[in-house]
Amino acid sequence: MYHGDLSCIGCFIVTISLMLAPMEGVIDHTMRAMLTRDNDYERCVTEFLRVTDRLLPERVFFAICPELKQGGTTPSETPVYVQILGSDPHIVALNAKRAAELGALGIDLNFGCPAKTVNRSRGGASLLRTPQLVKDIVRAARDAVPGHIPVTAKIRLGYDHDEGLLELIEQLDQAQPTEITIHARTKAQGYRPPAHWHKIAQARHQTSIPIIANGEIWSTEDALACSEASGCQRLMIARGALMRPELARLIHQRCQGLPETPLNWSEIALRLCLFFEQQGLHYDAKYTPSPVKQWLVYLKHYHAPAARLFEQLKRITDPQHFGEALWAHYRST
Ligand SMILES: Cc1cc2nc3c(=O)[nH]c(=O)nc-3n(C[C@H](O)[C@H](O)[C@H](O)COP(=O)(O)O)c2cc1C
Repeated sequence: MYHGDLSCIGCFIVTISLMLAPMEGVIDHTMRAMLTRDNDYERCVTEFLRVTDRLLPERVFFAICPELKQGGTTPSETPVYVQILGSDPHIVALNAKRAAELGALGIDLNFGCPAKTVNRSRGGASLLRTPQLVKDIVRAARDAVPGHIPVTAKIRLGYDHDEGLLELIEQLDQAQPTEITIHARTKAQGYRPPAHWHKIAQARHQTSIPIIANGEIWSTEDALACSEASGCQRLMIARGALMRPELARLIHQRCQGLPETPLNWSEIALRLCLFFEQQGLHYDAKYTPSPVKQWLVYLKHYHAPAARLFEQLKRITDPQHFGEALWAHYRST
């Protein structure tokens, strides 16, 4: 068991479970398939499904979570939870129930999205200002979904400030979600570092509901530091999982005292090519270069060849030309 002393790594087995975070417009089912093949994630979460005033048609659930047609898991059998974002308890509950009927292995409720359009219509992070409503939404979803299917909540520390965090946790405690993921920043802090992991520790003392810590985990060291500061053994990774596609594996290897086996650039370049091909199988060809470029933007923070490749590819919009250049790059590695 890990007791917070980094010097003990190598002599103790550290138990850390990792979740792949939802990222709208970035982590779709093709990316989930790719990342869960290389890493042992406990689970993934879909991009958010925005619900406003009605039950969404089934095709919308299948579009956001094609895994529903394969038992609710990625091809490597990692469970995928469907994320719902809405502010009306009844409507959220209706859609959560439908997601469960369609085979979702879990429902995650989004209370952290900072997008202006979402917040203007009282969704996402703006709900953090009304903890009672957060409770009502979670409780309605919990009551609507069969008891064996997890209903989880993903929150930030607060909206403008974190002073209401403990009240929020108290309300959530009454609604009894299966777990709470805390992105350790307020909405006002956006995605600016640092993440305030120690605030998660305060929340943990307020409830017996399991807490998952999230925010600013870019390396093995960050994961261990986050675990120590938050007291959580379950962590969620978003941008770091794209910047280093094998990050979760490296964290697990470190925790087990095993040698770390980072991917080399050639291995990552191959994954870029395969990701591009997968995009082509699922989407109109004209849209396939953009997700690869987007992934390169994350990769280039860590991998110098990604920056060079991005410069080379950024103006290519023709999918065939793009694919040829991408595969040629891989063959040159
Ligand atoms: C481009 C982008 C899209 C995101 N989309 C979602 C989303 O759909 N649902 C959600 O709960 N969080 C979303 N998030 C927040 C992440 O899940 C995560 O909480 C946040 O990025 C902090 O983790 P990180 O520091 O590891 O990136 C998104 C973040 C980014 C950068």
